[in-house]
Amino acid sequence: MIIANWKMYGSMALLENYIQHLQHDQLIVCPPYPLITECAKHFRTGAQNCSVYTEGAYTGEVSPTLLHDIGCRYVLLGHSERRKYFDETDEAIAEKAEIAFDHEMIPIVCVGGHSSSWDRERITIEEQIRALPEEIWVAYEPAWAIGTNKWPSPKEIAKAVDWIKEQTGTQWVFYGGSVNADNAKDILAVCDGLLVGRASQDVETMKGLLKKLGS
Ligand code: PGA
Repeated sequence: MIIANWKMYGSMALLENYIQHLQHDQLIVCPPYPLITECAKHFRTGAQNCSVYTEGAYTGEVSPTLLHDIGCRYVLLGHSERRKYFDETDEAIAEKAEIAFDHEMIPIVCVGGHSSSWDRERITIEEQIRALPEEIWVAYEPAWAIGTNKWPSPKEIAKAVDWIKEQTGTQWVFYGGSVNADNAKDILAVCDGLLVGRASQDVETMKGLLKKLGS
């Protein structure tokens, strides 16, 4: 499985390009909110966040009710950019995960810290997963690997993936952080899928990544 996290990039033109060239049942596309309705007509679709409230007078928020209504079936939660720039706490992320389930969306919770030492990283992740409900999907994304062209070795990723599975009981652990055409195959061998940021803006690169999954 490959998750394309468009972040605050993308356009109708990119979506049209995806529709023409990237039809694949192992692809989940997470575009910005305004593109979700159209995207969901063609792809498994996820949001990049959702409100902790079901509905109400919360100007600027997007409710899980509406997300589900427009075809969204997945939601990324706790991305390190949301933790850093929008002060998302582990508690709020856990609450959002519960709400996503209540609205028949699978929460894909991003975890990972800033340390390249696994012992310190493990302590951070322990804290991040403590309050999460069961059956979530998890994306292991060391913050230092996001958008940096640096990534852990497959061996290090395998260690994190196995440990996260043991702790959470989830069957699905993705890896994200500087995934590219060269490292994707080795990383895919040790986890259940990729969470792709920057590289998801390029349709040719995405084609290559999807090929590595097989049909
Ligand atoms: P990147 O981002 O692939 O650009 O490193 C991954 C992510 O932030 O999900």
